Amino acid sequence: MNSKIIVLDTTLRDGEQVPGAKLNVYQKLEIAQQLKRLNVDIIEAGFPASSAGDFYAVQEIVRAVGSSVSITALARAVKSDIDAVYESIKLAQNPLIHIVLGTSNIHVEKKFNRSKDAVMQMGVDAVRYAKTLLPHVQYSTEDASRSDFEYLWSTIRAVIEAGATMINVPDTVGFAVPEEFGDLIRRLNERIKNLNDQVILSVHCHNDLGMATANTLSAVKNGADKVECTINGLGERAGNASLEEVVMGLKVRESFYKRATGINTQELKRTSRLVSHLTGLDVQVNKAITGENAFAHSSGIHQDGLLKDKNVYEIMSPEDVGADSMELILTARSGRHAFKNTVEKMGFDTSDAVDFEALFQKFLTLADAKKEVYDHDVFYLVTNHRTLDE
Ligand code: KIV
Ligand code: ZN
Repeated sequence: MNSKIIVLDTTLRDGEQVPGAKLNVYQKLEIAQQLKRLNVDIIEAGFPASSAGDFYAVQEIVRAVGSSVSITALARAVKSDIDAVYESIKLAQNPLIHIVLGTSNIHVEKKFNRSKDAVMQMGVDAVRYAKTLLPHVQYSTEDASRSDFEYLWSTIRAVIEAGATMINVPDTVGFAVPEEFGDLIRRLNERIKNLNDQVILSVHCHNDLGMATANTLSAVKNGADKVECTINGLGERAGNASLEEVVMGLKVRESFYKRATGINTQELKRTSRLVSHLTGLDVQVNKAITGENAFAHSSGIHQDGLLKDKNVYEIMSPEDVGADSMELILTARSGRHAFKNTVEKMGFDTSDAVDFEALFQKFLTLADAKKEVYDHDVFYLVTNHRTLDE
C-alpha cells in the first residue's frame, strides 16, 4: 500500500453535470489553473464525446495545465467515445483514458438489455482498444455498490487482464454506508493486489444519503489508493464527495488514517470561492471546511475558551485551509472577554474597568437589537461612547 493518496478532481466533469452549473471554456480554464495550484494529481476535464464544446474545452485544459497535471476524460465503453477522449487529451504529459460501464443487475438488464457476459465483454474490448492508444486506462464499474460481488470481481479481473491500470469503484447513487463500503473495498483490494499489485484502486462516492465523505474515508481506511472528489461537493443530484472535506479529514486525522494527500490545503478556501463564484452556486454557510461559518464562533463560552487557547474549540486552524483567522461573531451571548478582545484589537484602551463596563452594557443593548455586531458597529460604539463621555 502506497501511503500517498492520489486525488482526482472531477469538478469539471461530474461537478459540471449539476443543473445550472454550466461553465464556458474560459471559466473551465480558470478552475483548471486553480486546481493546479491546489496540487490535485489528476483533473477529469470533461466528457469529450458529449459535445464539440466539451471536446474543445478538454483540449484547452490540456494546453493550459496538461504539462504539470495528469488529465483524464470520460468515455462510455464504445470506440467513438474512447477516440474522442484520446484525441482531446493525447498532448497531455500524463494522459489517462477513463472508461465507464455498469456492473449492477439493474444496469445490465435495464440499460443494456444484454447478458452479463456480453456486458463484461464490452468492457474488456473497450479496455483493449484504449490500451492500443495510451498506457494508462481507468475502468469504472458504475453502480458497483449495488452490484453482485462475484460478478463485480469477475469484471474487475477481466479488465485488469485486458490492461486496465486503475479500477474505480463508484457508489453511483450514494446508496452505500461507510462500514459496508469499507468492507467492499477491503475485499476488492485483497483480490486486486493478489492479481496485480501495481493496479490502483480508486473510489468515487455520491452524496445522496449525505455519506460521500464518510464512505470515501472508510474506503481509504480499507485500502483505496485514490479518491475522486469535487470542489464544494458539486455533482449529480446531491453531489460528490467534497474534496475539501476528504482532504482535511485525512490531514486532521492523519494519525488514524496514516495516509496523506499532496494537496496544498492553503488553497482550499480560494478554490471553493472561485468555483462558487463561477458556477453561481453558493456554499452553505455551515459547510465543513469552506462555509462562511466554518471557523466562526458565536457563543460566549466558546469565545472565552478560544481566547485562552485556540485548541479548546478548533481542530484545525483557518490558515491551514486559507480561510481568514479565527473570527469571533459578536452577539448578545458574547461575553466581556470576546468584546474586550475586539475593542483592543482596534487599538482602544480598556484599562478603565468602570468605563469598560459601561461600554459593554451599551454593546449588549445594541446586540439585543441587532443580533450580530460587526467590527464597524463596535468602532462606532466605542468612538460614540468616548466622544459623549468627554
Ligand atoms: O457516479 C459515477 O458512477 C460516475 C462514473 C462515471 C465514475 O460518475
Ligand atoms: Zn459520479
